[in-house]
Amino acid sequence: MKRWLPFIALIGGAIGFSLYMFLSEDVNPYTPTANDPLVIYKDACAHCHGETGEGSGLLYPALNADELTLDRVRKSVREGSFMMPSFPNIKGAVLDSLAQIIMRASYKGR
Ligand code: HEC
Repeated sequence: MKRWLPFIALIGGAIGFSLYMFLSEDVNPYTPTANDPLVIYKDACAHCHGETGEGSGLLYPALNADELTLDRVRKSVREGSFMMPSFPNIKGAVLDSLAQIIMRASYKGR
């Protein structure tokens, strides 16, 4: 029984961390401080997706326009996903222009 303890501790930690990520989401959603989509990208997206959308490590995907559509970008930002917070305060015309610069300037994987 004793030798399972480290595993139980590890799994408990993992569940706790997931719950924390889940519950802390949306507590304090990012609010744009400017209408400039480049500023918003830098403030809200760059620390995960990289300054130029190149992604970061294994966890955070590159924003590759070849695989995205405007709608998919809008949906990701509005709803978030398991590993990405949602941004309910980025909306309307601001969300549109953000999606557009991501499609236009995104990292091409080269
Ligand atoms: C906390 C880190 C984090 C932040 C901040 C973040 N993202 Fe993400 N994003 C992710 C992760 C991780 C994924 C991969 C999907 C998943 O969660 O399974 C993702 C996926 C995406 C996708 C979908 C890619 C696809 O192939 O469908 C888009 C588009 C996107 N993010 C755009 C944004 C934009 C725009 C912002 C800023 C408003 C942003 N992200 C902020 C972590 C983040």
